[in-house]
This record gives sequence, C-alpha cells and structure tokens, in this order.
Amino acid sequence: MLKPVGCGKEVDKRMISHVLSAAQFSRGELDELFDRADWFRSLGDRKQNFPHELNEKTVALLFYEPSTRTRMSFELAAKYLGATVVGTEAAGMFSSAAKGETIEDTVRVLTEYLVDAIVIRHKQRGASHDAAGVSTIPIINAGDGDGEHPTQALLDLYTILRMVKRDREMTITFCGDIEHSRTVRSLCRLLIRYSSGTHNLCRLILCSPRTIRLGEDIRQELVIAGIPFEEMSLLPRAMKQCDVFYQTRVQMERFGIGPDGQPTPEAREVHRLVQERFRLDNRTARFLPPHAVVLHPLPRVGEIAPEFDTDPRAHYFQQAGNGLYIRMALLSTLLHSDG
Ligand code: NCD
Repeated sequence: MLKPVGCGKEVDKRMISHVLSAAQFSRGELDELFDRADWFRSLGDRKQNFPHELNEKTVALLFYEPSTRTRMSFELAAKYLGATVVGTEAAGMFSSAAKGETIEDTVRVLTEYLVDAIVIRHKQRGASHDAAGVSTIPIINAGDGDGEHPTQALLDLYTILRMVKRDREMTITFCGDIEHSRTVRSLCRLLIRYSSGTHNLCRLILCSPRTIRLGEDIRQELVIAGIPFEEMSLLPRAMKQCDVFYQTRVQMERFGIGPDGQPTPEAREVHRLVQERFRLDNRTARFLPPHAVVLHPLPRVGEIAPEFDTDPRAHYFQQAGNGLYIRMALLSTLLHSDG
C-alpha cells in the first residue's frame, strides 16, 4: 500500500494515502503499481471486462488550470472502474474559488458530500499539500504550478521501463524547458526513488537554453542520489547518446504575463530559441540512435514536428495512453479495499 503522506494536524487518525510528490514512492510500491497497470492494460481492448471495483466510490476532479489528458484519463479511469465522478474544469472561474474561497474550504465541503478522493490541478506550487493538510480523504496532485506532477511521472517511468531494454545503464535526455517543467521535476524524483538501492539505472542529459536549466533543488537531489547528469545546449550531441529522448514545451504561462495580457518578451524569446535550436523534426532526428524512444508529456507546440509522428521512435501518444492504465492502477490501489 502507498504510505500516508502529508496528514495535517486537523486530520483524524485514519490512514490516508495522498499522492503529492513523486518522492513518496518506494521501488516496491512502484513495481506493484506498474504490474497492476499491466493488468488493466491487458484488459484494455475489452473495456466491459474492467472490474467495477470502485462502484461505491466518488472521485472529484478540481482543475484550476487547463488540462486535456490528465483530466480525461482520471475521469475515464474512475468511470471504467465504476466510480461516480464529479468535477469542474476551469475551477478558478466556475467554482467558488472565483468568489475567493480557499482550496482548504473547498476540500472540507467536498468531504461533507461523501467524496472519496479529490484530484487537484492548481497553478500554485504547494496547493495540493495545502489541500492535503485539511483532508480526511486522499488528495491526488495532478500538477501544482511549476512544482510537481507525480502521476505524469508514474506513467512516464512506466512507459520507459516497458519500452527500454535494461541490459545496461540507460541515458535519458530531457530537452526544452527543463526549469519550469513539473513533469521533468517529478520524473527526476521518481528515477531517484526507483534507482535507490540499485545503481546504474540511468544517467541524465539535460539539454536546454542556459536560461531555463534544471532547478537547484532537484540538481542537489540528483547529486545526493548519485545519478550522473550532464548539461549541454547542443541538440545533436544530446541526441546521439540517448536511449530515451524526452522533449518538453516552453511553459509560457510560468514566465508571467506582460502588461498587455500576452506572454512576456522573455517567454517569447525562449520559445523562439527552442523552436530554432531544440526542435525535433526529420532533419534533427537523424542524430537519434535507431533504438531511441521519443517521449513528450504533451501538449506539444512545435518542438516536435508532426512529420516525426510516423517515425517508429515516436511513442508520445502511446505514452499518453498509458496514463489511463496508470491512473486506474492508482485509484484502485488508493480506493479499493482489496486493491
Ligand atoms: C504537462 C503538464 O501539465 O505539466 N501536461 C500533462 O499533464 N500531460 C506538460 C505541459 O503542460 O507541458
């Protein structure tokens, strides 16, 4: 079972398993979760065979930031397992948050409605931790600003482990906006957890413009965990050595908004630079080894050219598909008493 995380003072003594950070998982828990995802995936082309093990459960989705994949796959995962799903998109606009309600109060109210778990995406780093501090039911962090996105990291690692032969240390290249990408931050933390107790699971290449490099906190965590990493800003060199090429978009929304309501000039400049020097297309793809697995958390906005989609190394849509099975496995583990 997942370990309880972040139980605040106000919360009663029951065991609550929140999913707040990729750093909370042990290798054993990850292997169990991935085996369970395999099982759901094996039933995937016969949806009617999914067990309705959550048919007395209710899952609430509170999305204060835009989402397609995370929200849809959580909703479908819960529904395929028989749960009732309630929620609001654009919660900042359409929930009582628009009137100034705190996330803590929203969580307290949902608990009164007998909801069993709340999935939260929020623009502020730490928002899910705040929610978990007052919650008597599991809170799942579906992305908190530029903080973390642990369930994306789960599906990313699952995809990597199922696709890459591990007869030697693998090289994972992260490319693009490494500073602001919460998926990269969470995946680094998950790789640290997964490799603890073993060695030589992976080395990392961080390929980005100098202005958007990996944050100091994760950098320190990698050093302490003994995961080697190298930074470079030449795409061909970063591509040549990799087994996994993990591309990311420039997170324009994390640079703030200019006085005209548009992205700041800095954000636009970084975006231009990434399009010019860090883009994967059929021309740059020749530097990738033939066995490379190309991933992207999506959405992409030009940093992978659509012409690359038919390349056998393109696996980002399959990666997104794995999100369904990982989230089924997670909800089943958290909410089903025999899960
Ligand atoms: C990511 C996110 O929200 O951080 N998207 C997702 O959930 N698949 C990546 C991104 O928005 O760039």
